[in-house]
Amino acid sequence: MNKFKLPTVLGAAIVATVMIGLSGQAVAGISATKHNLSNTGTGDITSDNPEICVFCHTPHNAIKNNNIPLWNHTLSTTANYGVYTSPTFDGAADVADVGGVTASTATVTNLCLSCHDGTVALNAINNPSNNHLVTAMAGTGLTDDKISAGRDTNLGADLTNDHPVNFTYDDAADTGLIAAATLTNVRLFDGKVQCASCHDPHSSDPTTQPFLRFTMEGSALCLKCHNK
Ligand code: HEC
Ligand code: HEC
Ligand code: HEC
Ligand code: HEC
Repeated sequence: MNKFKLPTVLGAAIVATVMIGLSGQAVAGISATKHNLSNTGTGDITSDNPEICVFCHTPHNAIKNNNIPLWNHTLSTTANYGVYTSPTFDGAADVADVGGVTASTATVTNLCLSCHDGTVALNAINNPSNNHLVTAMAGTGLTDDKISAGRDTNLGADLTNDHPVNFTYDDAADTGLIAAATLTNVRLFDGKVQCASCHDPHSSDPTTQPFLRFTMEGSALCLKCHNK
């Protein structure tokens, strides 16, 4: 018996390793993140709904304009977030307040703020799934189904103390910027910096959390745009 044991154990270990590798590939992405608000989510905030994308996207009857992807989460009605200013901020030329938007004027930044300004319930969606209607939210960090005030993921309605968003990435006005045409890893939206320029809301890559597009080791993400 004993002489078969080692190969068996080894074999099992190899099979297990291969399976972890494969399942790691299969489940990599949003399901392993705090943006999985379904009943399989492992973050502090989840729900009784088995779907993941529905909290943000829908295949039909979306809140849609030409700048946002098939959106399903109720937009915030916050009228005014303010904009970042400083004497050396060259983006001041066209930076625009993202407050007071409608379905036809929402930017990618408004998509994030639809949950992260703390004013809209996480289960307030435009087009509920046909099969899974009930979406009671659960977990810590929730107040009236919204991200609780005071939690660091609740940015509130003031963007004047945050990295600027919703302005043109102008490498001609600011020579301290990497040329727009040669940017890697980060993403501009119609030439503009938005929340998702630095963040990928679907990424589970452990080296680039929280939902970042590149690592912050050595502040490498910052150096993807700033020549410092
Ligand atoms: C917590 C909110 C959220 C969830 C959940 C979510 N997304 Fe997204 N998704 C976004 C936002 C915000 C954008 C726009 C920013 C961007 O493109 O990175 C986006 C963009 C996209 C895009 C277009 C841009 C691209 O990167 O290809 C696709 C396709 C997409 N999502 C698919 C999905 C699918 C499929 C699911 C479910 C498995 C999902 N998303 C779940 C927030 C979400
Ligand atoms: C997607 C590109 C991009 C990334 C990534 C990025 N920035 Fe910026 N940032 C900009 C742009 C464009 C401006 C506007 C620059 C200007 O005109 O002054 C800016 C402005 C700033 C400013 C204000 C400059 C001023 O004159 O007031 C600071 C400070 C700054 N960024 C720091 C950072 C830090 C720290 C990081 C990393 C956490 C970072 N940035 C990541 C694009 C980026
Ligand atoms: C449907 C609601 C929803 C939308 C839309 C959404 N988020 Fe989130 N996000 C959440 C929730 C819920 C959490 C977990 C909050 C907590 O536990 O404190 C979270 C967590 C995060 C975190 C923290 C992750 C960590 O590991 O600590 C970041 C960063 C983040 N979101 C960025 C974004 C950005 C950027 C966008 C837009 C591109 C976005 N989110 C859109 C609901 C949303
Ligand atoms: C210039 C890059 C950049 C932009 C633009 C940006 N973020 Fe972030 N964000 C970061 C980085 C880097 C971190 C991680 C900070 C840390 O770990 O100290 C972060 C952290 C967060 C967190 C976690 C809470 C916290 O304070 O650490 C949330 C939530 C978040 N961002 C949401 C947003 C939203 C919503 C927007 C748009 C309004 C946005 N971010 C725009 C770079 C950015």
